[in-house]
Amino acid sequence: AEVSRIAADLLAWYDRNARVLPWRTPPGAGPADPYRVWLSEIMLQQTVVATVKPYFGRFTTLWPDVVTLAAAPREAVLAEWAGLGYYARARNLHACAGVVTRDHGGRFPDTVEGLLTLPGIGPYTAAAIAAIAFDRPVAAIDGNVERVMARLHAIKTPLPAAKPRIRAVADAAVPAERPGDFAQALMDLGATICAPKTPRCAECPLAGDCAGRLRGLAATLPRKTPK
Ligand code: ADE
Repeated sequence: AEVSRIAADLLAWYDRNARVLPWRTPPGAGPADPYRVWLSEIMLQQTVVATVKPYFGRFTTLWPDVVTLAAAPREAVLAEWAGLGYYARARNLHACAGVVTRDHGGRFPDTVEGLLTLPGIGPYTAAAIAAIAFDRPVAAIDGNVERVMARLHAIKTPLPAAKPRIRAVADAAVPAERPGDFAQALMDLGATICAPKTPRCAECPLAGDCAGRLRGLAATLPRKTPK
């Protein structure tokens, strides 16, 4: 079937091309540490991977788990955050560590619904953590994944009106096996191949399945309603 071919093609590509990142496990190795996944996702919310890497290394050296982060003085956490910007993220980060430590025994909730109750965790981040750290079969939809799905399915309806359809096709694409790798494969595809202005379709593992490419529309999607 088409959906399983998309997942299979994407996972086979990820097996060969996954970016090596400090919060990841290698392709096929299963879920990563929820604390490290959570910390990376918060840092990556408004900051690019190359900038996040050294911050992630310093944070995890100083505070290797959520309990030690919760015990750190808030000022120390904010000081280490300096340069990443959007300080509400750092305040929520420390508050979230406190809630997980005090109310959840130091273990992150393992469902989207449970994760959504935590400070600083919205729908995208909850889905990303559930998939990557707990292998829950959910789609984590950020701007990159919206672009990939709009192209794959040649969705000409502009954003934001297209969001429900994008959610439906993204949910339908998630495989029961390796949902965490699937989520990160989509992130890597969106970052390295399915680029906003100039998609590298010649290198894309999904080119043969991509309705946007087949119709000559890939580079023009997704469309956006002017603000
Ligand atoms: N951007 C957001 N989450 C990411 C992840 N887990 N890997 C790479 N880029 C990301």
